[in-house]
Amino acid sequence: MAKCPADFDFFSPEVIESPFEFYKVVREQAPVYQLPETNIFFLSRWEDIRTVNRDTATFSNDFQDVLQGPDPSDEVKAIYASGYAQPPTLLTLDPPEHKMYRSLINKVFSAKRVETMRPYMEKVVDELLDDMLEKGECDFVHDFATPLPVYVIADQLGVPREDLRRIKTWSDAFASRLGGMADEQQQLEDARLIVEWQHYMADIINQRRATPQDDMISDLANNMIKHPDGERLMTMEELLSMIEQLLVAGNETTTSSLAGGLLSLIQLQDQMQLLLDDPGLIDNAVEEMLRMESPSAGLWRLVTTDTAIRGVSIPKGSLLMLRYAAANRDEVVFEQPDQMDVCRKNADEHIAFGYGIHFCPGAFLGRKEMQVAFQKILERMDNIQLAPGKNDLMHSPNMVLRGLKELHITYDKREVTA
Ligand code: HEM
Repeated sequence: MAKCPADFDFFSPEVIESPFEFYKVVREQAPVYQLPETNIFFLSRWEDIRTVNRDTATFSNDFQDVLQGPDPSDEVKAIYASGYAQPPTLLTLDPPEHKMYRSLINKVFSAKRVETMRPYMEKVVDELLDDMLEKGECDFVHDFATPLPVYVIADQLGVPREDLRRIKTWSDAFASRLGGMADEQQQLEDARLIVEWQHYMADIINQRRATPQDDMISDLANNMIKHPDGERLMTMEELLSMIEQLLVAGNETTTSSLAGGLLSLIQLQDQMQLLLDDPGLIDNAVEEMLRMESPSAGLWRLVTTDTAIRGVSIPKGSLLMLRYAAANRDEVVFEQPDQMDVCRKNADEHIAFGYGIHFCPGAFLGRKEMQVAFQKILERMDNIQLAPGKNDLMHSPNMVLRGLKELHITYDKREVTA
């Protein structure tokens, strides 16, 4: 018998791990689906999500407080009080304030700047591959897909190489706080790490204000924002809040796209062969990987007034879950959507980077990292296979992010032909 939406529990570990059948059923039968016993409306169609993203007055990004959960303990609050306040800057702000910060971040992350970073990215990728190729076998998530985005963003934030491990630890603490599942002990640890990060980063910002360099942190620290009271530099609190988002939004998503993309190529050798025969297809393949993986699987919106979508009434105060990962497999837009096709003509119509005013400002950067990575991987590695007996191919349990926990592979060095 055909399944219906009520046959699935979206919050169950099984559906979080393998959501694609659920996505198909809701897209077909209930594109605006109220998750049972919640005030969450789940949107799964490409067109609906784009429409919602155009109406920022009705569908607000000011969802931080709603998701905050119970108040932290006095001990946790005391630790945060010893750091900097955390004003909203990008993801959880609406117009007009959002634009003030967004104009600056667009300038700092421009396509032009990212293009100039290509030789630098090639060097970082080559260094990671040098180490991997020596071993013949590795966990691709641990040895390549995690360090690549961390190295790139850390270099741009002026964090010295010897402190890179700390960046990952801090970034995990932000993610843990956002995840809202931490127990008291973990919350204390997260708070301690976040405040430690704030003081560390504030020192770097002060250095870059005194002596600017050619990196993103110098641009962020020294460029004006157009505040209603007049142009001014960002305060330390605003800067830290923005940089925190760059860390949290940029690292895990890029890691997941790289790992998921490579797994698909290993499982679909014909697709791998197409790229080996014509590396000019790599940029399109990256779009297709982003469509299939959609590592930012879903984002929230807060409904500010009673409204309706597709005839479904949605009361003020409800939450929308914009499921980008479901929309990217919408059969109305993508033929045979569950199939990876590196030659797909409209692969770049995916909305894995969102849509509208919150469209990912790191899209150029994330894409470029993936393009350089796959170009070099295919150039330098041969016979890439799953390491026998080592993979369960499970994803980290998370409601909004989706990414492989590990990806153990074996490979040879590709012989260079003259
Ligand atoms: C493959 C990699 C990436 C994916 C799939 C991705 C996905 C997304 C998505 C879907 C949004 C929209 C959120 C919404 O609709 O509310 C977003 C926003 C954002 N992303 Fe990314 N992202 C990636 C890489 C990056 C990188 C590399 C950075 C920066 C270093 C970054 C920084 C941000 C920030 C700051 C926002 C908030 C923008 C705003 O609210 O105006 N992302 N990203």
